[in-house]
Amino acid sequence: MTVAEPDLVASGTARVEWADRAMPVLREIRSRFAAERPLAGKRVAMCMHVTAETANLARTLAAGGATVALAASNPLSTQADTAAALGAAYDVGVFAGDPTDADMATYYKNIHAALDVGPHLVLDDACDLITTLHTERTALIDDVIGGCEQTTTGLVRLRAMHRSGALRIPVVDVGSSGTKQLFDNTYGTGQSVLEAVLHASNLLLAGRTVVVAGYGYCGRGVAARAAGLGASVIVTEIDPLRALDATLNGFTVLPMDDAARRGDVIITVTGNRDVVTTEHLALVRDGAVLANGGHFDVEIDVRALAAAAVEVRRDVRPGADEYVLADGRRVLLLASGRVANLGAGEGHPPDVMDLAFADQALATEWLAGAGGSLEAGVYDVPAEIDAAVARGKLGAMSIGIDTPTDSQIAYLDAWEQGS
Ligand code: NAI
Repeated sequence: MTVAEPDLVASGTARVEWADRAMPVLREIRSRFAAERPLAGKRVAMCMHVTAETANLARTLAAGGATVALAASNPLSTQADTAAALGAAYDVGVFAGDPTDADMATYYKNIHAALDVGPHLVLDDACDLITTLHTERTALIDDVIGGCEQTTTGLVRLRAMHRSGALRIPVVDVGSSGTKQLFDNTYGTGQSVLEAVLHASNLLLAGRTVVVAGYGYCGRGVAARAAGLGASVIVTEIDPLRALDATLNGFTVLPMDDAARRGDVIITVTGNRDVVTTEHLALVRDGAVLANGGHFDVEIDVRALAAAAVEVRRDVRPGADEYVLADGRRVLLLASGRVANLGAGEGHPPDVMDLAFADQALATEWLAGAGGSLEAGVYDVPAEIDAAVARGKLGAMSIGIDTPTDSQIAYLDAWEQGS
């Protein structure tokens, strides 16, 4: 464990407990896990953002009887106090390095350290833990009964692994469950990426132009929230259906070549690479804010920005560096082009992580219950888990819904009744 500063434990514990207040579904699962111990004797390796919300997931797995080792999934997103609290107060092994240390060697060293637990279950966020298991730590695979993947980018990699025949374990696609994708990606990313932009730039968005690259689950949330704050929103896309959807939702759709010159704020959430390139940097406005909400730091060409700059003013704003270009234009880059809501903000509010992490906890229990009987492959979150998590959240919010009558169920099941 590389992060264990005792003076941080109190503030980390307070942060974790604060987040827990807004995570009623996970809390309920934790108390059931503590009583039933469905993960007794299981070792779990996780690679996730070391945040208060993740801490509550790790506590839940530990309450279920698991030994948990957590590696940081992004060097810049680690909350040092949360890491300290996890080790000291919640008995979770944390391998996060120095939160200011963004070096990849440390990142992979942490992943190896988490794998050293000899996992039965692996919980990943972008597939680096699972790929490391399948490439450098193959001796551990026979003990692994399954895993979960949290994010869209990881699922793209996981499916590619499965197509090529490389995947040797069953992995639950938590990232595509209704309760994760709709709420975490859309409402969580929508709010928290903008929160990071506002915190770092202190711009009034009303009356300004925000360019959102990618109108997927995340992009539609960012676009809607930016519009709600009074910005004019331009969407860029490569998918005709999604471009049409954005248009019919009232947004202007343009190629990035046109959009880049108009944006006061440019936000990438595509899961793709090279979305803002040298050509676009030549067009951006003086004072433009660049933020990436996609998982990896390949969406904005940060090297090209550095090469074009005559001066870089580090930390000119919280979580943001200013690049001064040769012609005097200034560009504010959030979180070095890494995932901005975590690198320059506090990440998703716990309310949304409650759903995704309730899915993770229940999917982990489901895998443990299957006891290694599942074939290697990518599995949907069982529908009953998705429904139970949504129901739990509605219950916690004291929101009732209707129950279909027997005749309604029969009507929806029948094909004989026409007009
Ligand atoms: P998605 O697949 O629903 O949407 C991505 C969209 O980007 C698609 O509509 C695609 O057509 C479009 N796109 C791809 N290449 C493009 C390009 N060159 N220019 C313009 N548009 C392009 O994916 P989702 O769920 O919205 O996730 C996007 C990224 O955000 C992924 O990397 C995912 O891992 C990450 N993510 C980040 C979160 C955060 O907290 N910041 C939370 C959840 C996901």
